[in-house]
Amino acid sequence: MKKKLLFLGPPGAGKGTQANLFCKKYGLDHLSTGDLLRDEVSSGSDLGMQAAEVMNKGELVSDDLVLSIVEGRLAKTNTGWLLDGFPRNVNQANALKRLLEKINQPLEGVILIKIDDDYLINRLLERGRQDDNKQVIINRLKIYREKTSPLIDLYAKQGILDVIEGNAEIDVVFSCIEKALGG
Ligand code: AP5
Repeated sequence: MKKKLLFLGPPGAGKGTQANLFCKKYGLDHLSTGDLLRDEVSSGSDLGMQAAEVMNKGELVSDDLVLSIVEGRLAKTNTGWLLDGFPRNVNQANALKRLLEKINQPLEGVILIKIDDDYLINRLLERGRQDDNKQVIINRLKIYREKTSPLIDLYAKQGILDVIEGNAEIDVVFSCIEKALGG
């Protein structure tokens, strides 16, 4: 089973849900930049306050802040890791590449969870997180298409991308991911 992983996909595709299940089963460190940023917001720090403003609009938080969070966490993990919500643009992907070369831990697999907009908008409206209202969801989707979706091609060209259908029961999606990653 591959143990240095990245899950890609639009907001609401199920990245966090699947990453949680996968990391529990295979003992990987789940690095979700969204969760780490929400922790920072809850702490009430200045950085957290700045991040909250950006997140509530559905925009991307600055690359520098996100990179410093990920770098600190990746350096500490030795059981394998799963990146969820990072990288989010080409600049972050290039920074990740440099970081992984430095720590000599190459990326082994990328899972793209794909799903139609209509399904994911409904899922997110039902969940009701702070940034789950229709206008912000539409902006998150726009940012995903503009900034994040170019990474699909980048990882496909490296031959490490598998595409999974996200509009299925959670355990069905999970089985497809396991199969793709060699389980
Ligand atoms: P982040 O927390 O990463 O949010 P996101 O990418 O919009 O993803 P979501 O958490 O909404 O969706 P998901 O795919 O994880 O789906 P989930 O499993 O939760 O980012 C939030 C914000 O933080 C960004 O907008 C940005 O501002 C900032 N940020 C984060 N990372 C950043 C970075 N690297 N750079 C800059 N800024 C960054 O599922 C969604 C719902 O669907 C749940 O209710 C779940 O129960 C349900 N569900 C899941 N799977 C299924 C299924 N198969 N069937 C039915 N329901 C399902």
